[in-house]
Amino acid sequence: MNTRKAYDKWSEQYDSNVNRTRDLEAMALRQVLEEKHFSSALEIGCGTGKNTQWLVNRTETLVAADLSEEMLAKAREKLAGYHVEFHQADINMPWDFTDQCFDLVTFSLVLEHIENLDFIFQQAGNRLKTGGMIYLGELHPFKQYSGSKARFETEEGQTIVPCFTHNISDFTESAKKYGFEIKDIQEFFDNEDRTSIPRILVMTFILLE
Ligand SMILES: C[S@@+](CC[C@H](N)C(=O)[O-])C[C@H]1O[C@@H](n2cnc3c(N)ncnc32)[C@H](O)[C@@H]1O
Repeated sequence: MNTRKAYDKWSEQYDSNVNRTRDLEAMALRQVLEEKHFSSALEIGCGTGKNTQWLVNRTETLVAADLSEEMLAKAREKLAGYHVEFHQADINMPWDFTDQCFDLVTFSLVLEHIENLDFIFQQAGNRLKTGGMIYLGELHPFKQYSGSKARFETEEGQTIVPCFTHNISDFTESAKKYGFEIKDIQEFFDNEDRTSIPRILVMTFILLE
């Protein structure tokens, strides 16, 4: 099943499933961005709006995009009455759904579904102001090596969403190629147990020019 169809199907239970990756990334994003102010943000792969709900109260302009109409429908429902501009878009294609430039671009649990990181950093660079930040929160590659994948169960059985493993240096090398400086790398663990395999990798990048 392709990524779009899989998320259309997952949308019914995405918010109610037990999902430690979803929940830990929500915590990580809030912790990392808490002290910062952004007047405008572009949320890539907003899904059902888990982080849109938090970002909307911290930005004057918020644009959110996702591949799956059904995931977006949930987000639109949650954010009804708030100032969010939602778009259905495939980020593997040129990001012509907006012509604005933002202070912040976020990716939460999205890039594991994207094969070509170079195109993504190039497009993100086009949509950021100089000095703008990328926040990226992904399933840690160590977790992927140990067999963890975006997957869900229905009565018809298990669906595994198409995934790609990106090493930390894949992200950093691609970011550097498109004018970004690495600001920070953080790892988040289940129950804060640093002797276990980290679940979430967070990286922030700043656009230099
Ligand atoms: C695991 S969900 C994460 C949703 C939300 N960011 C969160 O953290 O709960 C991954 C999301 O990425 C979206 N996605 C996957 N591939 C995409 C693509 N090529 N373009 C845009 N969105 C994509 C999916 O539709 C899905 O909503």
